[in-house]
Amino acid sequence: MARLFKPLTMRAVTLPNRVVVSPMSQYSAVNGVANDWHFAHLSRFALGGAGLVFTEATAVEERGRRTPGDLGLWKDEQIEPLRRITRFIKANGAVPGIQISHAGRKASERRPWHGNRCLDQEDVTERGEHPWETIGPTDEPFGQHWHAPMAMTEATIREVLDAFAATARRAVAAGFEVIDLYGGHGFLMHQFLSPACNTRTDTYGGTAQNRQRFGLEVIDAVRREWPERFPLFYRISAVDWADGGLQMDEATAFAEQAYAHGVDVMDVSTGGIGGSAKRQNIPIGPAFQAPLAGEIREKTRKHTMAVGFIRTAQEAEGVLQAEQADLVAIAREILYDPNWALHAAQVLGVDEEFSLWPPEFGWWLNGRARALKKLGQPGTFFSGTASTLLDLSERKKG
Ligand SMILES: Cc1cc2nc3c(=O)[nH]c(=O)nc-3n(C[C@H](O)[C@H](O)[C@H](O)COP(=O)(O)O)c2cc1C
Repeated sequence: MARLFKPLTMRAVTLPNRVVVSPMSQYSAVNGVANDWHFAHLSRFALGGAGLVFTEATAVEERGRRTPGDLGLWKDEQIEPLRRITRFIKANGAVPGIQISHAGRKASERRPWHGNRCLDQEDVTERGEHPWETIGPTDEPFGQHWHAPMAMTEATIREVLDAFAATARRAVAAGFEVIDLYGGHGFLMHQFLSPACNTRTDTYGGTAQNRQRFGLEVIDAVRREWPERFPLFYRISAVDWADGGLQMDEATAFAEQAYAHGVDVMDVSTGGIGGSAKRQNIPIGPAFQAPLAGEIREKTRKHTMAVGFIRTAQEAEGVLQAEQADLVAIAREILYDPNWALHAAQVLGVDEEFSLWPPEFGWWLNGRARALKKLGQPGTFFSGTASTLLDLSERKKG
């Protein structure tokens, strides 16, 4: 049996398979509230057979949004539309997860399709969207021509920790069963962990141990509110791809601490720190970040999730077979093909008769495949990428 379709139980939650929908911001919320777009976007991945469906980065406080269109869970009114989504995901056999986040100095940005830069007068004039004051470990901005954040005091740090805890409490009320803490891609926890960004001189900066402190305090704050029975993930940027940036030895040391503080899965990505550090080339290629997840998994003997340029069913299965990760997160490929998981099950030979599909679809598709076979035609389906065109009848013969 393909590993990709083996269930995984963590704490009291069982994922029906190892295909995870990676968090993907839609920048389409108003005042942080989920709407029909989010419902349709996330629901179709549950219909498409993914085991765990994560929401996009969901802000724990208003100033922690990356853009004006980010989802939020900083007030109770934001709970109900999310509960509608989790109800549907659960009713269709998947587990609903939420990524919770604070963008720190990377907040107050435009939506990507309006141009990759911070909000300015043009956004005020054209869209009525005003920049807001941001916070960070120091006052160094995320990029050139970006607003300078306010360096966080101990009181601000406590405020943000309380916001994470309160959001975890609301996530329970909204029906989520997994939380992913957004500690990568240059967001606030990453800003504290990375030596390329955190030059504080107090107990939150300087040494590796001090730079770990904020992230670990977030884990503690969330764990206090997040029930024991629910798993906690932590997305880390394991390397910065920047001179003087985070490297694997520090990332692994952080992961060890994170697991000890109650994290169940390290979700291993890379990059995004920004600032003045000189960037290195990123060796993008198929599953290029999976070896880093593998290194953390091997050293800590705990669960990891791989993400990044995993496109085909075979690549995903390969990551699991190589014991680099226990779960595989897919983003762009599953946007392209929301039925990616169901197609992968067919490619890997675990669903010959569409039995994993919702019966409303599967019953007809199975009949179609049988009719094609009788006609001597291949029951060809397009499984997400041109490289995995699937011919069910051919595969059966082979
Ligand atoms: C539309 C879009 C939005 C994204 N938003 C988030 C996000 O909210 N949080 C996050 O951790 N990563 C986000 N990412 C990164 C993905 O989760 C993933 O790590 C990255 O796209 C690499 O995986 P892929 O090659 O399968 O796309 C986003 C990616 C895309 C394409």
